[in-house]
Formats: sequence, C-alpha cells, structure tokens
Amino acid sequence: MDLNGKIAVVTGSARGIGFAMAELFASKGATSIITDVPGAAIDEAVKKIIDNGGKAIGIPCDVSKEADVEALMQKIVDDTGRLDVAVLNAGILRDGVFVKADKETKKVVKKMALDQWQAIINVNLTGVFLSGREAAVQMINCGNGGVIIPMSSIARHGNMGQTNYSAAKAGVSAMTVVWSKELAKYKIRSAAIAPGFIATPMVMQDMKSEALAKWEKIIPIGRMGEPEEIAHTALYIIENELITGITIDASGGIRI
Ligand SMILES: NC(=O)c1ccc[n+]([C@@H]2O[C@H](COP(=O)([O-])OP(=O)(O)OC[C@H]3O[C@@H](n4cnc5c(N)ncnc54)[C@H](O)[C@@H]3O)[C@@H](O)[C@H]2O)c1
Repeated sequence: MDLNGKIAVVTGSARGIGFAMAELFASKGATSIITDVPGAAIDEAVKKIIDNGGKAIGIPCDVSKEADVEALMQKIVDDTGRLDVAVLNAGILRDGVFVKADKETKKVVKKMALDQWQAIINVNLTGVFLSGREAAVQMINCGNGGVIIPMSSIARHGNMGQTNYSAAKAGVSAMTVVWSKELAKYKIRSAAIAPGFIATPMVMQDMKSEALAKWEKIIPIGRMGEPEEIAHTALYIIENELITGITIDASGGIRI
C-alpha cells in the first residue's frame, strides 16, 4: 500500500513509538489520526506534525473502553471517508513477580495482584482486540481493504517479571494470525511488530534502572532501539503486500 492520500490511525500515539509512526506516515502523505487517553499530549503531537507540513487529526480514546473505540473508528470514517491503516500500539507496563518467597523463611511474601494482571489485560489485550475489531469493521464497510498492525513484544515468549505483559503480548501475536486468515478475503492484512528494548518514556520511566542496564549489556547490537526504527518496520509492513500473519521482531538481535 502506498500511504499517500490514505488515513492511518495509531492508538497511543501522543508519544513514544506511536508518535514516531504517526510522524513517518504523515511524511509519506497520509493523514495520521493521533489518538490516546484523554489528558495525553494529543494536541501537541498533532501540532508537531502539522508544523512539519504533514496532516494529522487528534481524537481522544481509551482503547480499553468499547464505546470509546467504536466511536473513534466511526468518527474517522465519518470525518475522512476512509480508514486504510490501523496500528494497535497503545500499551502499558505493570511489571512484578508472579510469586516470591522470603529467602530466610522460604514462605511466600509477595504475589502478582489481580488488578496488576487485569490492568495489563484490559489495555494490552482487550484494547488490541477492540481497536482491531472496530478498525476491521470500518475497513470492510469502506471496501478499500487495509492493513492492521498490532504491537506485540519480544516478551511474548515469556519474560521474567512480566507474567501479565507476556501473556497479553502472546495473545496479540496469536490474534494477528487469526485476523490475517479471517480478513484476507476483505483485502485486509495483519502483521504484528515485536520490539525489543526501545528508548521511549515507557522503558525509560517505568523500568527499573538496574534491569535496564542489565538488558542493555546483552543486546547484540549494543544499544537500545529508537522509536523511528519501529516506525520504519510498520512502513515496511504497510508497503509490502506479501506480509501478513506474522510477528516481526525488531530487537537488535535480543531474544527471550
Ligand atoms: N518501548 C519498548 O521497548 C517496547 C518494547 C516492546 C513492545 N512495546 C510496545 O510498543 C507500544 C508502544 O510503547 P512505547 O514504548 O511507545 O510506550 P509509551 O508509554 O511511550 O507510549 C504508550 C502510549 O500509549 C498510551 N496509552 C496507554 N494506555 C492507553 C489506553 N488505555 N488507551 C489509549 N492509549 C493508551 C499512553 O498514554 C502513551 O501515550 C506498547 O504496546 C508497548 O507494549 C514497547
């Protein structure tokens, strides 16, 4: 797909990887729909793209809320007449051990709280389900086909301290395969991206600095990735009509 003149929505795009994607898509002639939770820097993100000569529209939406997501995807088509690309990027971290015993007493002193599990499932799994479903509804009704790009992670293979996140990201990769099969007849492709460690606010603010330093040492290319490199991976998926039903690792060689 050539992005020129197309409409591309990126969830969670007020900052980080999502914003880098919205910027890149706009530079290729698409109108980028910047959407994020109410209160996020949506207007600033839209302004930055417009100031650089691109087209962007901001619409707040919490991806974990069905009515919000239905309204978002419907409004995009009502306002612009089409929907060509949907990147299901919104995500959060709530890391913690599954269960932990005290070294001395050997008795369990800590466990992952249900709300810690549920918060991740609500945004990173249900949010992807809802935004993927509603994007597909609009793409099918518009009749132009489309591309859906869910954001997975290398943690989908099972990362220590991320029971909740790993489960959600594995689910995202599985849904991507299902959608590539079910939606092919509508000329909709679906391929996920699994970033490694990317220098975004999520990682720099939410991950413990000791954990970050440990990971940085074992990334084969010797550095973290940049949001623009993940945006480039999304562009590759959009432009290459053969790519569907897979998760592409963009990780600098690190595996979990
Ligand atoms: N940064 C990394 O190293 C890394 C690695 C693997 C996967 N990922 C995935 O890439 C995606 C983007 O991550 P990032 O590093 O840019 O994170 P980020 O925290 O910098 O940006 C995420 C954005 O999502 C928004 N968001 C959170 N909850 C939302 C909700 N309920 N509805 C709508 N928007 C919501 C946030 O407000 C934020 O703007 C996430 O899905 C993340 O899991 C990131």
